Amino acid sequence: MSVDAAQLAGSPEDEVKTLPGVESISSASQSAAVPPLQDNEEDSFYLTFPSANEQLTDAEFERACELIDYYIEEGNRIVPYCVERGRDPDLFDRGNVWQEGFVDFLGNMMLSKKYNNLNRMRLIAWHFSAYRLFDLSSVTEPPPSEWFNVFYSRGVEELPDDVDSLIHESYDPWHRMETLFPRLDNIIDKVDAKYLHSQPLRFGEIAASYRGFMVNGDSIRYWGGVAALYRTRVLEQIERKIAERGMCRVLEIGPGYGGLAYQLKKTYGDKLQFIAVDLVESLIYSSIYLTTLFKEKALFYTDEKVVTADNGLVFVPSFRSPEFFRAISDIDLCINTISMNEMTAAQVDYYAQAVSMCLAKDGIFFECNRDALRAGPGRIEVKSYIALQFAERLSVENTEVAGDGNLDIWSHALSPAIVTASEREYPASVLHYRRGVR
Ligand SMILES: C[S@@+](CC[C@H](N)C(=O)[O-])C[C@H]1O[C@@H](n2cnc3c(N)ncnc32)[C@H](O)[C@@H]1O
Repeated sequence: MSVDAAQLAGSPEDEVKTLPGVESISSASQSAAVPPLQDNEEDSFYLTFPSANEQLTDAEFERACELIDYYIEEGNRIVPYCVERGRDPDLFDRGNVWQEGFVDFLGNMMLSKKYNNLNRMRLIAWHFSAYRLFDLSSVTEPPPSEWFNVFYSRGVEELPDDVDSLIHESYDPWHRMETLFPRLDNIIDKVDAKYLHSQPLRFGEIAASYRGFMVNGDSIRYWGGVAALYRTRVLEQIERKIAERGMCRVLEIGPGYGGLAYQLKKTYGDKLQFIAVDLVESLIYSSIYLTTLFKEKALFYTDEKVVTADNGLVFVPSFRSPEFFRAISDIDLCINTISMNEMTAAQVDYYAQAVSMCLAKDGIFFECNRDALRAGPGRIEVKSYIALQFAERLSVENTEVAGDGNLDIWSHALSPAIVTASEREYPASVLHYRRGVR
C-alpha cells in the first residue's frame, strides 16, 4: 500500500499524487474575558466556575446549532461521497477506538442542540484531552458516582443550569488545582510567557489563577505542546515563515476541541492559518469553539482547489481530505498528538503519506503518539508508518507534551537550526536525531 514519498514530495501543478485507498489525484480576539470570581482573596488566588464565564449569546448559540446541523449533514454524506469516488468509507470514518459509542454517547449530549450543553461544552469534551474538567481529574480516575448520571452516562439530555453548586458539593476544587502547579511551574519556567495563554473563560471553563494565568489540567496538555514547539525552535521557524510571506499554515490532524489551536492562534492571530482535519463529529466541537473565540473568516472545506490566506480557520472533514491534500502543498507545520495511535493502521498509513505530500519542503510534522505496546492490543505501531515517509527524525523523550506519547519531529529537510537548538536545550540522553530514516 505504501507509496514512495519521493513520488509525493514537491507536488508541481501537474504531478500525480496518490494516497492509499484513494484514487490517483492530480494536483492542480478572543472575546473579552469576564473577570473571574474572587474565591479566596486571602491567598490572592482565584477560581472561576462556569457561571462566571462569558455565556454564549443567542447569536452564538444559533450559529453553533447551524454548525451541528451542517456536520450532521456532512456525516450523512460520507458513504455516498466515498463510494462515488471508489474509496473505502472505513478509511474516512470513525475507526479503531473512535468507532464505537461516539455518536450515541456524545451525540446525545452534543447533537441535541441544547443551550446548556453548548454553553458548557468544555465540561463534556473530556474524551479529547483525557482531562475531565467537571471534576478536575484525569479520565483514568473513576468519576464521582453522583456525577455519573449528570455528565457521563448515555442519554444525558441537557446539563443542569446550576453546575457550580454541583462542583462545590462534590469535591474540593482548590485541592485538585494545587496538584497541577508543579507541572505548570515546569513549563512557565522554561517558556517565554508571550507564548502561553490563559484558558478562555467561555464554554463552562473552570480555572484557577496561577502566576498570572487562568489554568487547569488542559493548560498542562496544551502548554506542553507549546513548550516543546518553543524549546525545539519550531516556533522560531514559524516566525521566519510569517516574516517571509506574511502568514504561515498550520494543519492539525485530530485537534480535539481546539485547545492547542487556541494557544497558537492567540499568539499569532490572523498570521497563522489554522487548518483542522478531523472526523465530522469532532469538527462540531472545534468549529464551534474556535469560530466563537476567533472572529476570523472560516472556511468549511468542501472541495476548493485553492485555500486562500484570508481564511484564518479551515475545517476539513476527513472524508473530504483527499481533495484538500491534493490542493495544498505548502503546510509549514503539521501536528498530530494522541490521535494516530487511536486510528486504524490504514488510516495512519493514509495520513502519514498525506502529511508527507502536503508539507512544504522544510515543513515539520510534530507528532506525539503512544507506541503500540503502551496503547495495547488492537493498536498499531504508528511511528513505523511515518518513518516510511520522512528523511529526518528528531525524537525527544519525556518532554512536557502530555498524554504519555513519544514526541517526534519529522521532516523532508529539517533546518539545522532546530537540531542544534534542541541539542542545546535537551540532555543528550533524551534526544535522538536520525537522518536517512526512510
Ligand atoms: C484523543 S483526541 C486528541 C485530541 C488532541 N490532539 C489532543 O491532544 O488533545 C484524538 C483526536 O483524533 C481525532 N481522530 C480520530 N480518528 C481520526 C481520523 N480517522 N481522522 C482524523 N482525526 C481522527 C479525534 O476526532 C480527536 O480529535
